[in-house]
Amino acid sequence: MRKLTYFVACSIDGFIGDPNGDASSMMRYVDEEFLEFLKTEYPETVSAEGRRVLDFHDAPNQKFDTVIQGRGSYRVGLDAGVTSPYGHLREYVASRGLGESPDPNVHLITEDLVGAVRALKAEEGGLGIWLCGGSQVAGALLDEVDELVIKTYPQIYGSGMPMFGTDFTVTDFTLDWVRTFDNGVLVRKYVRQR
Ligand SMILES: NC(=O)c1ccc[n+]([C@@H]2O[C@H](COP(=O)([O-])OP(=O)(O)OC[C@H]3O[C@@H](n4cnc5c(N)ncnc54)[C@H](OP(=O)(O)O)[C@@H]3O)[C@@H](O)[C@H]2O)c1
Repeated sequence: MRKLTYFVACSIDGFIGDPNGDASSMMRYVDEEFLEFLKTEYPETVSAEGRRVLDFHDAPNQKFDTVIQGRGSYRVGLDAGVTSPYGHLREYVASRGLGESPDPNVHLITEDLVGAVRALKAEEGGLGIWLCGGSQVAGALLDEVDELVIKTYPQIYGSGMPMFGTDFTVTDFTLDWVRTFDNGVLVRKYVRQR
């Protein structure tokens, strides 16, 4: 089974962005040390444009070969004219309303999101599946999430977009590892208790 990993950036108080999902305030913590970690361990989670600008566009994928995002998350790039933000991965976008995919590399999931993700997880071999977000799709897929990799930036948002847009529900995870960075960023990996 391939694993579904929610790899996500959040504030100390657990928000993935402001009430509209904007997390640009976190970008100031992507300094040399943290960028090196991303480039080495999770290069595929940096957008194709970011990889080009930062000169590691040809870095091989390390953990994931597939990304899933909701239309809300995908729209951030689309509004800027980017139809394939992660062209180095197989891209899936959950949307009932988008109609047609704007890019040949982007596959739309229009119905049975959970079933589609289960089918991807059941594929033989390959790397893992990155659940990019946002909140609504993560909430819909909570039961399918096998791992969390949470990049916590040293900021309090007070309110904002929750990591999982779902009803109150308790789900237990076991801490696998923690990495700390000089600028106060913390990355934790959790594995689901099944
Ligand atoms: N901090 C981070 O690491 C991080 C990561 C990713 C995203 N974000 C932020 O999260 C925000 C977006 O989050 P969001 O919660 O508003 O939106 P989202 O979860 O990205 O997308 C929601 C959309 O996904 C589609 N969808 C939801 N459930 C579905 C289902 N069961 N089947 C098919 N389609 C389904 C719907 O699209 P249709 O309306 O087309 O049907 C829905 O409007 C963005 O602002 C982004 O910046 C932050």
